[in-house]
Amino acid sequence: MAAPRILALESSCDETACAVVEGLFVRASVVASQVELHAQFGGVVPELASRHHLTAAVPVVREALARAGVGFEWFDAIGVTEGPGLVGALLVAVQLARGLSLATGLPLVGVHHMEGHLVSPFLGDADSPPAEFAPHLALSVSGGHSELVHVQALGRYEVLGSTRDDAAGEAFDKAAKLLGLGYPGGPVIDRLAADGDPTAVPFPRAMLGSRENLEFSFSGLKTAVAVYVDQHGQPSSRQALADVCASFQAAVVAVLVAKLRAARRRVGTSLVTIVGGVSANSGLRTALAEAATRDGFTLRAPPLRYCGDNAAMIGGAAALRWAAGLRREPPVEVYASLALDEGRARDG
Ligand code: KG4
Ligand code: ZN
Repeated sequence: MAAPRILALESSCDETACAVVEGLFVRASVVASQVELHAQFGGVVPELASRHHLTAAVPVVREALARAGVGFEWFDAIGVTEGPGLVGALLVAVQLARGLSLATGLPLVGVHHMEGHLVSPFLGDADSPPAEFAPHLALSVSGGHSELVHVQALGRYEVLGSTRDDAAGEAFDKAAKLLGLGYPGGPVIDRLAADGDPTAVPFPRAMLGSRENLEFSFSGLKTAVAVYVDQHGQPSSRQALADVCASFQAAVVAVLVAKLRAARRRVGTSLVTIVGGVSANSGLRTALAEAATRDGFTLRAPPLRYCGDNAAMIGGAAALRWAAGLRREPPVEVYASLALDEGRARDG
């Protein structure tokens, strides 16, 4: 079967995105980020996100088609994120996809947002070739999720552990807020940490006690940063700030790496991926590359352009679903929460 040609749409949070893919090969990926809009409020404001998706959605589709140099007749199907996410935000891409489907006759393929992230390390484009989607262990870390997932096959996922409270990206965002660094916190902490001493502040490494326990907890670390700022005040020099950032990042990375190594020993896979916004973190990438050498596994991380939310990953997942005949009925709904490993267990 020829690689399915998918027009993909994503609007689950604060990125309006459209992509044109052929199997896992990305011909065009357009992302309109609202990050500057939400930064002034210190986080994503759902109502504003929905309104901006409405104005951005049609232009990103036009732009993706123009960059790929194709028209609607080129495609086999339309892929769209159906959850989890902000309902008002999700609705924009889903309704646009439904409208395009009515107008063109193209069938719809609904995609779980996290399945898109799981596919992202296997995407390729003119700059790097795609790879075959194979069984693996994934560390999925974003603003809303921190999960260790055993990917047995497309659609067959076992969540081995997840966060009990804050997600890893949320911890970066909250720590950055406490340090007066603005939103989103991950990229700025990552940048500052490069010049800091990771041993300067002994921040806690939660839930490292047992190898069996693959759960995460990051809210204690956030509290530790709050207590530090309370006791010492805001770091008074750039170096002091870099030291706090490096120490914070080291604590997050130590927990993620330890849990991932324990999970890999349990499932015995030779392929490991990191996905989601936090997979862009340079400290995490370096530490995992070292662990890969030490433990003898292969690490795949998406290129930075596919770490954060994008539609290329949704297109890749839709292409794999289309090729495998894994299309659901009804093909597309909208779900605020949606379990990755429970098939159609949804609460919309
Ligand atoms: O996957 P994503 O774009 O959106 C969600 O689905 O949540 O992830 C966004 C999260 C934010 O919390 C952001 O602070 C974090 O990813 N992030 C990072 C880095 N770049 C983005 N965290 C740590 N280091 C980074 N370089
Ligand atoms: Zn995401």
